[in-house]
Amino acid sequence: HKIAVLVSGSGSNLEAIMDAIDDGKLNCSIEFVIADRSCLAIERAKKRGIRTVVLDRRGFGKELSQRILEIIGKDLDLLVLAGFLSILEGEILKVYKDKIINIHPSLLPKFSGKGMYGLRVHEAVLKEGEKESGCTVHFVDEGVDTGRIILQKRVAVLEGDSPFDLSKRVLEEEHKLIVEAIKKVLEG
Ligand code: GRF
Repeated sequence: HKIAVLVSGSGSNLEAIMDAIDDGKLNCSIEFVIADRSCLAIERAKKRGIRTVVLDRRGFGKELSQRILEIIGKDLDLLVLAGFLSILEGEILKVYKDKIINIHPSLLPKFSGKGMYGLRVHEAVLKEGEKESGCTVHFVDEGVDTGRIILQKRVAVLEGDSPFDLSKRVLEEEHKLIVEAIKKVLEG
């Protein structure tokens, strides 16, 4: 199977995917790692010899999704958004219908939406006094964090947790969940 991974940040989810492939846990190859900004994730991909493309989102605006489609073509088996912060729209969503997945650091549908990324999700969870949080992998549709849920993992919120403490605990689970979800979707 051939996949592409879209990134914007530190790339720890990408790292987990690359490790799983190298460990023989995932039977797929990463054809492209594409970022909408320069980021650590791109450096991690380069180190592993994976083809990388950086498209500065400010230069592309609404053309970003079309540009990504032109780069990856129409024959990939799966697009994985791993900390990708731009919103995909237009033709790419049709060409890759039910073949784009995203990982989000909350138990969707709770704490979803455009502004909910980075530590903001975990700040909101703590502010609400939630006793548990978690992460979700879902299919990407026209909305933001609204597609059909594939897998979820619950994570405890502990007394005295800071947003950073919670984000780290959730991130550890994300690294396992994203690999499980790719396996589940590719193997049908
Ligand atoms: C993760 O928390 C992910 O859920 C969210 O952005 C973060 C990406 O982290 N979408 P990384 O770039 O994979 O380390």
